Amino acid sequence: MGHNFEPLKNDLLLRAAWGQKVERPPMWVMRQAGRYLPEYHEAKGKRDFFECCRDPEVASTITLQPVERYTGLLDAAIIFSDILVIPQAMGMVVEMVDKKGPHFPSPLKTPDDGQYDQVLARNVDVAAELGYVYDAITLTRKKLAGQVPLIGFCGAPWTLFCYMVEGGGTKLFSQVKTWIYKYPEESKKLLSKIADICVDHLALQVKAGAQLVMVFDSWAGELGPSSYRQFSEPYLAHIAEKLPAKLQSLGLDRVPMTVFPKGAWYALDSACNLGYNVVGMDWLQDAKDAVKIRGDRDIVFQGNADPGILYGTKEGITAAVQEMVDGFWVGNKGWIANLGHGITPGVHPDNLKHFFEEVHRLTKN
Ligand code: CP3
Repeated sequence: MGHNFEPLKNDLLLRAAWGQKVERPPMWVMRQAGRYLPEYHEAKGKRDFFECCRDPEVASTITLQPVERYTGLLDAAIIFSDILVIPQAMGMVVEMVDKKGPHFPSPLKTPDDGQYDQVLARNVDVAAELGYVYDAITLTRKKLAGQVPLIGFCGAPWTLFCYMVEGGGTKLFSQVKTWIYKYPEESKKLLSKIADICVDHLALQVKAGAQLVMVFDSWAGELGPSSYRQFSEPYLAHIAEKLPAKLQSLGLDRVPMTVFPKGAWYALDSACNLGYNVVGMDWLQDAKDAVKIRGDRDIVFQGNADPGILYGTKEGITAAVQEMVDGFWVGNKGWIANLGHGITPGVHPDNLKHFFEEVHRLTKN
C-alpha cells in the first residue's frame, strides 16, 4: 500500500500473536517508552506531552528509545501516542497536566448539556484530525528498518467514555456511573459512536504501518460483570468484528488484534470469544487458572506481572517471571510476556532489563 518498508528481521511477536509455535515468548512492556527513562525526558525537553505526540520526529524518537536501550531484548515497539487523541478528534479539549495526568476543561455533563448532541452529531474525520499519528507510525517504521514490529493502539470505548465524562483520572467514577445508571441509552449511543471511530483510527494506523493493534480498556474493572457486559464488552466486540472488513475495504491485510480489559478477570472466558487473537491480562489473574479457562481455544495471552515488582529486588523479579513462565508457557505457544499494566515512573531501567533477561533465561529450551 504505497509504503516500501524493510522486511522484518524479528517477526516473533506476529507469529506468536497468530497462535503459532515459537522458539521463545516474545516480549515488550506497556508504556515502555515513557517517564522511567531519562532519555525520554531529554527528548521531550520542555514540550508539552501532546506536542510530542503531534511531532512525528519526536514521537518516533521516543518510540525507538526502549528498543535501542534494550538491544536484542525487546520484540516490539509501540507507537508513542495516547488513547485520548480520539476524544480530541471528537472535538474535545484534552490537556496533559504535569504530574497530574489528563484534564478535560469541559467534560460532558449530561445528555442535555448541548455538548453531548454536538459530539454525537460531529462527523469525525480521523484522517484529517489524527494525520500526525499516521505520519509518526510511517516514520517510525522507516527508522525501525525491520528490527521489530510496530504496535498501534486505541482506547476502548468504555475507557474513553470514562475520561470524556469524568474529565480526567478519578477514584470514584461518580460521573460515569451517573451516566450509565441514569442515562443508559444515551451512554450507549456515545459508546457506539466512539467504537466506530476506534475502527477507523486502527485501520488508518495499519495503513500507515502498524503491524498489530491493541485496544486498551484500562477501566473495564470498574464495572461489575453485568454492567461490563452492557457497557464495555459489546463495543470491544464491535471493534474486533468491524476492523477486518475495514482493512479489506482499504486493500490491507489483516493484522493480529489484542484486547486488554484491565481488571475484568471475571470476564476472561468471554474475552476469549470476542474475536481478538490476543487477550491481555493484569496481575489479578493467576496464570495457571487463566490457561485452564482458555481451554483449547486458539487464543494468546499477554501479561501479566505486577509492574510493582520492578520496585523490589532482583530475586523478586525472577520469582515473578518464573511464575508467569510456569503458568503461561505451555507447548511453546500462547503467550506474549509483558507486565500486567504499564511500567510506572520511578522504576530503575536496569530492573526492567533484569525482567527481560529473566524471561529469556527461564524460557530457554
Ligand atoms: O510506551 C507506550 O506504551 C506507548 C505510549 C502510550 C502512552 N499512553 C504514552 C503516555 C500508550 C499505549 C498510552 C495509553 C494510555 N494513555 C492509556 C491506556 C494504558 C493504561 O495505562 O491504562 C491511558 C489510560 C492513557 C491516558 C493517560 N495518558 C494517562 C492516565 C496519563 C497520565 C498518567 C500516567 O499514568 O502516565 C497519560 C500520559 C502519558 N501517556 C504519558 C506517556 C508516556 C506520560 C506523559 C508525561 O508526563 O510525560
